[in-house]
Amino acid sequence: MDIKPFMSIVVAMDENNTIGHNGKIPWAPLPTDHYWFLTHSTTTKDPLKRIALILGRKTFIDTIAFFKKYVPRWHFIVLTQELPGIFYEKYSNINRNQTDVVNTIDQAAYRAKELIETPDSMIESAYLFGGVIPYEQALERDYVKRIYLTRIFAKVPDCDTQVSKFDLNNFQRIKRPKDELLAEYDDKIIEENGWTYQFQVYERKNV
Ligand SMILES: NC(=O)c1ccc[n+]([C@@H]2O[C@H](COP(=O)([O-])OP(=O)(O)OC[C@H]3O[C@@H](n4cnc5c(N)ncnc54)[C@H](OP(=O)(O)O)[C@@H]3O)[C@@H](O)[C@H]2O)c1
Repeated sequence: MDIKPFMSIVVAMDENNTIGHNGKIPWAPLPTDHYWFLTHSTTTKDPLKRIALILGRKTFIDTIAFFKKYVPRWHFIVLTQELPGIFYEKYSNINRNQTDVVNTIDQAAYRAKELIETPDSMIESAYLFGGVIPYEQALERDYVKRIYLTRIFAKVPDCDTQVSKFDLNNFQRIKRPKDELLAEYDDKIIEENGWTYQFQVYERKNV
């Protein structure tokens, strides 16, 4: 299968491209940001369809715990170095019909494409939720079509989870047409819980 850029990244990053610290988000809860990324990553044109979320094992475990009520809206493609059988045994409470386990970003992209393109598929599109290596590899491999970036205007010191290769040279910042979902938020600057941030949307050039 020839894979052209197709997936969307959602990510909140500070000015050092920091995304986390100690397994958590290194800024206060930002309700408008939650609304932004959850709305984008759960809304489908066809209400009967769902979205495939591609994510590293740590982000997967956090996502199903913190965003429980949204879980039915997603099909998970989880990256791990474990064999699927061992992974399912370890996390015996996860729904296997809703969770694919893969070992490389290429397998994740192929699986997502396959799910989207299968005739009568119930999966409409794919979002990449992190963490560091999945973001870096998907960008490197040219799988990413759009980036929904929440830029936190700060340099949070002493954080352990940073994206080092986040090259936007092949992307252009866009302002979406008004009829697109939450387009009115594009470029908006928000001040919340002591943090200032902005919603930015980037699209792959020449797709
Ligand atoms: N700000 C944001 O938008 C955002 C988004 C997501 C996460 N976060 C934060 O980032 C941190 C978690 O991210 P993280 O980068 O540390 O971890 P992660 O990518 O969520 O999970 C790491 C694990 O995923 C598996 N994995 C990742 N890439 C793989 C690949 N290419 N092939 C095979 N397995 C792969 C491995 O699992 P195994 O160990 O099972 O082999 C690895 O140990 C947390 O602090 C979280 O709060 C922030």
